[in-house]
Amino acid sequence: MNEPGTATDAAACVTPEIRPFSLGDSDQLLQAVLESVNELGRWYEWCHAGLTPAEVEVYILERATLSTTDADYTYGLFDRRTNRLLGAAWLNRIDRPAATAYIGYWVRRSAAGHGVATNAARTLAARAAGHHGFQHLRLLIAEDNGASHRVAAKLGATVIGTQPAAFRVAGVVHDALIYDLPIQNT
Ligand SMILES: CC(C)(COP(=O)(O)OP(=O)(O)OC[C@H]1O[C@@H](n2cnc3c(N)ncnc32)[C@H](O)[C@@H]1OP(=O)(O)O)[C@@H](O)C(=O)NCCC(=O)NCCS
Repeated sequence: MNEPGTATDAAACVTPEIRPFSLGDSDQLLQAVLESVNELGRWYEWCHAGLTPAEVEVYILERATLSTTDADYTYGLFDRRTNRLLGAAWLNRIDRPAATAYIGYWVRRSAAGHGVATNAARTLAARAAGHHGFQHLRLLIAEDNGASHRVAAKLGATVIGTQPAAFRVAGVVHDALIYDLPIQNT
């Protein structure tokens, strides 16, 4: 078997299994985040080198609770052959009257660049339409997040607006673009 994180390993697993996190995923979720602090820490305040196992367990338990109230559906992205965690994707900011939700994603450093995010987002978009009943997904992407803009483009999403000072991470304020992705026919 290839060593985890090699190009061959990641390339063979570009369409990950998508399932909710369980506490049994805590260790490898922590490992994946810590491996990716430089990349994720630019965009997510919770991602820092001091993240603890207890904080990861709280995160997993909170996601499970939020899913029961139709507030957030977060999924781990797993290598189908090895069960190795590749990243995460989620639906949140749910607006039932408008049948919309925001989609987000991250991919661990050693698995990036092989289509994992794009394929996971496609799978989640189909689930968002078929299982969750949404008609549009939105993406909020910092103006200088080139990789995520590329993912949005590959999904077929289009820019519908801007959100100045959309979020602040580590003291840096980011303007963002808002994308729309119709999904009723996916
Ligand atoms: C953004 C992210 C999820 C992409 O994951 P991934 O699995 O590597 O994505 P994919 O392989 O499906 O596609 C990435 C695309 O971006 C391109 N890309 C990578 N870095 C780029 C950059 N700096 N500028 C422009 N495009 C870039 C890749 O070449 C690829 O495009 P291609 O298929 O046309 O070659 C990953 O980099 C990540 O987790 N980043 C940190 C967290 C984050 O930004 N999340 C999204 C917040 S909105």
